[in-house]
Order: sequence, then C-alpha cells, then structure tokens
Amino acid sequence: MSTAASAKPAVFVARRIFPEVIEKLSAQLDVSHNQADERLSPDELIARVQGKQGVFTTGSERIDARLLAACPGLRICANMAVGYNNFDVPAMTAAGVLATNAPDVLTETTADGGFALLMAAARRVTEGEHYLRAGRWQRWSYDMLVGQDVHGATLGIFGMGRIGQAIARRGALGFGMKVLYHNRTRLPADEEAAVRAEYVAKDVLLRRADHVMVVLPLTPQTRHYVGAAELALMKPSATLVNIGRGGVVDDAALARALREGRIAAAGLDVFEGEPQVHPELLACSNVALTPHIASASLPTRLAMAHLAADNLIGYLLHGQAQTPINP
Ligand code: DGY
Repeated sequence: MSTAASAKPAVFVARRIFPEVIEKLSAQLDVSHNQADERLSPDELIARVQGKQGVFTTGSERIDARLLAACPGLRICANMAVGYNNFDVPAMTAAGVLATNAPDVLTETTADGGFALLMAAARRVTEGEHYLRAGRWQRWSYDMLVGQDVHGATLGIFGMGRIGQAIARRGALGFGMKVLYHNRTRLPADEEAAVRAEYVAKDVLLRRADHVMVVLPLTPQTRHYVGAAELALMKPSATLVNIGRGGVVDDAALARALREGRIAAAGLDVFEGEPQVHPELLACSNVALTPHIASASLPTRLAMAHLAADNLIGYLLHGQAQTPINP
C-alpha cells in the first residue's frame, strides 16, 4: 500500500503472478497485488490503479481513456504479453503514459505451441484421444481417424513478425514444407530467404496452402481477417490454426465451415470473447482447442513476467524501459 512515508513508486499487479517476481518488484517498489486473482471489472481496476504510478497487466485488463482519466498519476502500464490489444495506445500516448509489452522472450515457445496445434488438428490427435477415452476403439481400421500430412505440405502464414518467422523456420527446415506468407508489409529479400518463405497475395495463400496459420494481432484492420469468404477459398482438406488473437478469425463462420466439411480441421488457442468459446466450436470434433497457452512454458512465462517487472522498475526508477510500445 502506498503511504506518505514510502518514497517508492506505487504499482498495482493486476493478476496473481510468480512469487519471485512479486519479491523482485517489492524490493524496489510499493506493490499491491490482486492475489485473489479474480477478474476485475473496469471499475474495480480503476479503484485499484488509482494513486499508483505503474500497473502490471497480463493482457486481459483494459487500459482505456476512462481509466487514464481516473488515474492521473499513472506513468506506465507493463503488459506481460506480446499482444497489447487490451491497451488503447493512442489514449495512453495522449495521457503521457508509457505502454510496454513482452516481445522476443516468448517467440520460440509460441511457435512451438502453434506447431503443436497444427499437428494435433491435422493428424487428429485430440480427436483420437477423445475417441479412445470414450471407449470407442474396438479394432484397427485402415481409415480410422486418417488425417493430413504436415511434413512436405504447403504452409500459409498470416502475420510475419517474429513468431510468424519462427513458424516459417520450423515448417521449412524441420518439416520440409513449402512456406507462403502474407503480411501488411513484405519482408526484405534477405529475411525472406532466411526463413525460406514466399510472399503471396492473401487469396493465393488461402487457395494454395494445405495448412494456414494465423499469427496476427487484433487491430481494427485484422478483425475477422479470416471469415466465411476466406474459409470458402481454402482446400477442403486444409487445417486452420489461430495462435494470433481471438477476433482475427470469425469463430462462428469457422464453426460452420468445420461442421459442413468445407475445411478439414482447426487448431485454436485464442477465441473471440475468451474465456468463453463459441458453443458451435465446442460441438465440433475436428477442432483442437487450448485455453490461450501457446506461450505457456514455465521458463517463458517466467521470462515474460521478469521483463514486465523490469520495465516497471526501469521506467519508474531510472526513466528507461526495455520494450516500450509508445516511447
Ligand atoms: C501474448 O503474449 O500476447 C500471448 O498471447 C500470451 O498472452
């Protein structure tokens, strides 16, 4: 709690995080902590952030103009996530509040998570597990749960930032895949060559890819970037994986496409309105679902938490953050 006697800047940690990271913060800052880990309403968040100079967010807390107006002493919001669609960055810039995220430290782990979902969906791993656990496995059969190959297939990637490039490397070098990508901006030729990826138009990617991986952040431009029209261009044997953000894929349209066999399978780690999942997706057997855990290895989550903490400490005590979004 902030007291007049305390010279330390005060910060609020909006969710339960690693005790060692709380200890690190507490050594230098005046820390209050949502230890109960309950999801805070916008009003509760404001009440907890008022009087603080910093807030440690996890990607689910919305930092918007209303909160900023109610918390005039706030100087920095440090997200323990690479994505920051929970931040209204223009409003933060206008209010003189620094936004930071947690890039790089999660790149390889998140790419692994994307591949895990691709393998699970294309090779029907989760479907097979449900089949077995339900006691339905009676005998070997030549066409039981046959899926699609990942090795040697054509992989299409939407979003060629660090994570997209890590996925491209896995596909090209590890699985012998032909890699296509589409991005707002094309990579320089040497970077394209390094990840062995070919830039193509969005519709070309959708038509040619055997598997499509979505790694886009959610912005007004990417909302429903993959919807009914895009799904209609994909091969009936194709798999769609979304590890970018919920809302980039139109989940209702995807559920319809899966149910009607217009694409073969999907692997989803992020959802529109998560932690709720569209009921029609839950009803589809040909979709592998995980609860936003693509970055969830212990070392990576620890590194993300340390980076967010270092941003708070660095900025509030020394005026320097490592990974500013709006410097
Ligand atoms: C991120 O860092 O943005 C991942 O989605 C994990 O929250």
